[in-house]
Amino acid sequence: MKTLIIYVSIHHGNTEKIAKAIASVLEADMSKPAEVDASYVCNYDLIGFGSGIYFGKHHPSLFSLVHRLPSQNGKGAFIFSTSGLRRIRLIHDFNKPLRHRLLAKGFRILGEFNCRGWDTYPIWVKPFGGINKGKPGEKEVKEAELFALSLKKSFHPSSTH
Ligand SMILES: Cc1cc2nc3c(=O)[nH]c(=O)nc-3n(C[C@H](O)[C@H](O)[C@H](O)COP(=O)(O)O)c2cc1C
Repeated sequence: MKTLIIYVSIHHGNTEKIAKAIASVLEADMSKPAEVDASYVCNYDLIGFGSGIYFGKHHPSLFSLVHRLPSQNGKGAFIFSTSGLRRIRLIHDFNKPLRHRLLAKGFRILGEFNCRGWDTYPIWVKPFGGINKGKPGEKEVKEAELFALSLKKSFHPSSTH
């Protein structure tokens, strides 16, 4: 299962920490969106897309990358994110816009992961050192590793497109 993780982590390196934890379990290569050539993804069986959540969604460079990619025929993908607020699927599902974009491109979403990350962006949290200080910590990294393991178990070579 050749895996590529494409990620953006511009605030405190929160998502990078999660990307590395997932990559270590899946023995994945890691890249930034700008480094990914559209045809490059053909070399992989599974692609992970992740970033911090900025203004309610993933980083714009991930959306532009997906736009540049050729249509996929059910290639496996997963989504991950770190966010200041808790993700509540029915109220504010931060992964939704990227999920829609990936599905429209022909990817098959095999799993999604979100955890909270240290956030000092809102002006009113700055005097307190931000929210979720220390996150992602050991617990979140462990959860990300378990998520990666579940992807590994559910992925079958026969499902590669
Ligand atoms: C410009 C900016 C906008 C943000 N907008 C949101 C948001 O809409 N919802 C949210 O839950 N967190 C938001 N956050 C917090 C980040 O999602 C959170 O800190 C995340 O862990 C950052 O990941 P990173 O360190 O990998 O960049 C925002 C942070 C920044 C810097």
